[in-house]
Amino acid sequence: MVLLKNEEKVLPFGAGTKLAVFGKGSFDYVKGGGGSGDVGCAYIRNLQDGLRSLGEMVQTYEPLDRFYEKEVKAQYEAGSAPGMTVEPALPEEMLEDARRFTDTALFVISRFSGEGWDRSDVEYTGEYNPWESETSMPKICGRIFPEGDFYLSAEEKKVLDAVTKRFNKVVAVLNTGGMVDTSWIRDNAKVQGALMAWQGGMEGGIATAETLFGLSCPSGKLPDTFADRVEAYPSTEGFHESFDYVDYTEDIFVGYRYFETFKEQKAHVVYPFGYGLSYTAFEITPETCRKSGEDGMEWRFKVTNVGTVAGKEVVQLYVEKPQGKLGKPARELVAFDKTALLEPGMSQMISLYVSKYTLSSYDDLGKVEASAYVLEKGTYRFYVGGDVENAGLLATPLEVAADEVICKLSRKGAPVSLKKRLLADGSYEELPQGETRDPNACVFEKMKPGSEEAIVPEDRGRAAYLLMNPYKEGVRPFTEVAEGKMTLKEFMEQLSDEELIGLLGGQPNVGVSNTWCFANLKEYGIPSVPTADGPAGVRINSETGVYTTAFPCTTMMASTWNTKMAEAVGKAGGEELKENNLGVWLTPAVNIHRNPMCGRNFEYYSEDPLLTGKMAAALVRGIQSNQVGCSVKHFCCNNKETNRKNADSRVSERALREIYLKAFEIIVKEADPWTIMSGYNVVNGYRASENKELLEDVLRGEWGFKGMVTSDWWNRAEHYKEILAGNDVKMACGFPDRVKKAMEMGAVTREDLLHCAERVLNLVLRFQ
Ligand code: BGC
Repeated sequence: MVLLKNEEKVLPFGAGTKLAVFGKGSFDYVKGGGGSGDVGCAYIRNLQDGLRSLGEMVQTYEPLDRFYEKEVKAQYEAGSAPGMTVEPALPEEMLEDARRFTDTALFVISRFSGEGWDRSDVEYTGEYNPWESETSMPKICGRIFPEGDFYLSAEEKKVLDAVTKRFNKVVAVLNTGGMVDTSWIRDNAKVQGALMAWQGGMEGGIATAETLFGLSCPSGKLPDTFADRVEAYPSTEGFHESFDYVDYTEDIFVGYRYFETFKEQKAHVVYPFGYGLSYTAFEITPETCRKSGEDGMEWRFKVTNVGTVAGKEVVQLYVEKPQGKLGKPARELVAFDKTALLEPGMSQMISLYVSKYTLSSYDDLGKVEASAYVLEKGTYRFYVGGDVENAGLLATPLEVAADEVICKLSRKGAPVSLKKRLLADGSYEELPQGETRDPNACVFEKMKPGSEEAIVPEDRGRAAYLLMNPYKEGVRPFTEVAEGKMTLKEFMEQLSDEELIGLLGGQPNVGVSNTWCFANLKEYGIPSVPTADGPAGVRINSETGVYTTAFPCTTMMASTWNTKMAEAVGKAGGEELKENNLGVWLTPAVNIHRNPMCGRNFEYYSEDPLLTGKMAAALVRGIQSNQVGCSVKHFCCNNKETNRKNADSRVSERALREIYLKAFEIIVKEADPWTIMSGYNVVNGYRASENKELLEDVLRGEWGFKGMVTSDWWNRAEHYKEILAGNDVKMACGFPDRVKKAMEMGAVTREDLLHCAERVLNLVLRFQ
């Protein structure tokens, strides 16, 4: 959790504090977001539960607690989801009585968002959609928050006014999954303290209460820039310009890269990226800095707890690159690490390494060297410290005498319709245009987009199962490959085209899985690989009666900046997966927080690709240490939910490389994920799952990805085109007849099928 404000050390509350807890958020706790990133857990602790769990440490004004409980329960009974309720008006006498009870108040807000809709009232109804709730949510959101849920509603403002007028000590608690307006916290002297408690999962209310009372010392740092207006983010202007496309004209200037570079925008920043207070204080002292080989620099910092309670600190290292020909953001995060829990007076050494590759920039248009990561000549200055705004200059810069080409690549995934992009000097650069692409192009008539929605895989069953003869007559079963008795190639030669095609689609659920399975060809002894959603937890159908852990939302995890913690969560989740006989966890979700309105930001980490990549790579290592797999999603540029299955993300190659692909690259290189899930969306005219340049050339060719690629569930892509692009499996089901037809027309060959099938079968072999 991130401590945003703490004037006159109002927090932590001392033992015996009497509290009046205002805002329906005290009861209406939002554990996480909705959709596939939701999870069925046995119970959820709200803040009232949390405060009660502290026993005699706290006394709350109970009539107020009961008032909110009653009001919120009535709204739930009328069909409202947690967080999508209206702030009830407070009876005047309740306020007065509460004031007589205490002079210390909490003011709690909660927010909910979910899959399939964005945090606005804009809704897309242009195609068949059986998920009615997704399309009605923008309407509800617009009704409760006419100005957008980024801001306090009129009803919330009234409560805040009434509370700050009467109480001497007011502390705000924010139970949200993403960026919200916090200027009312910074600017209102009466609000002395504020805790960003995020959506903390099933135990979130307990953790919030414990943090407020100092049983744990907050050490979270914001993984996003908190600005005062949603319009301050450069991506807001075009966010809803069209249902069909989104132009990423802000280019690489996402989040703090924008606010730090364009100084006139800084005034909009309420709390900067990396910001977070503590109940204790730290000193970060640079000890040594050395050039590490030819390749980069290594620092050692001494971090000392100079305060009075135990706590943890994050060391954040930023670079300021020379502007050169490409132009650069004023700051970029290049490394970070977090200390262990340090008692007062204790120190810990933290080493941070930065390679030249990390310091380089991508030149997509050949200003220095076309399609290459280049290190432009000049001075690279480094800053260390608490947050991006306040990080202090380090004495040792890196001097680069001449431009260096760090990594020569080739043109991949380039835009054809993005007209311009923002440069570091504030001007816009015109971009080369290309021939427009039709994402629905097909060698035969395409299925009507939307008609494939919610079709589940056919249960092919077994024609002739005999206990004594479990396999198809005459075949050598898959176990022979696992045992090294035959090669995978030899094994696959036995499979007919139809059988190969069968492997390239989703399979019926088995056990407690409810997001279907991979592989499954019983006649050859190929088992099913059951999947389950994440990232909130291992999502199992509640009808099975199996409950799993609802972890804190991903953005909250990112705000720990603690890769060891992420690995531990991955290990714990992977254990639950295995315990339930599941094979692949559809997590982590690593899309970038391009704009606060994206409805799924709670599932994603940060506006920064390095923080995202490092945290998610640790999670993947944790999951896969259980010998089960994960699916890193949604590859790539799936940064908006409205019409997500058709909207074209039009983005430059540089922004792709430096921002949107970067986290995936880090994860592939550092954690070897078993699978990757392509996005629903279109990227520069090609559907993400039909994008050969990104899936084959970049993911596999450049980064060395060894795993399997799955589509997202019920996308609008054509199955044979996915096969050609190296998207190995179509979920939730494949369309064998259409692939067969494309084969007959010569649009796809057995060779193409073999490529994908090999990767499906290699996934199965990983479970040995
Ligand atoms: C989501 C994925 C999810 C899949 C399976 C899709 O709607 O976009 O993130 O893993 O469903 O539930």
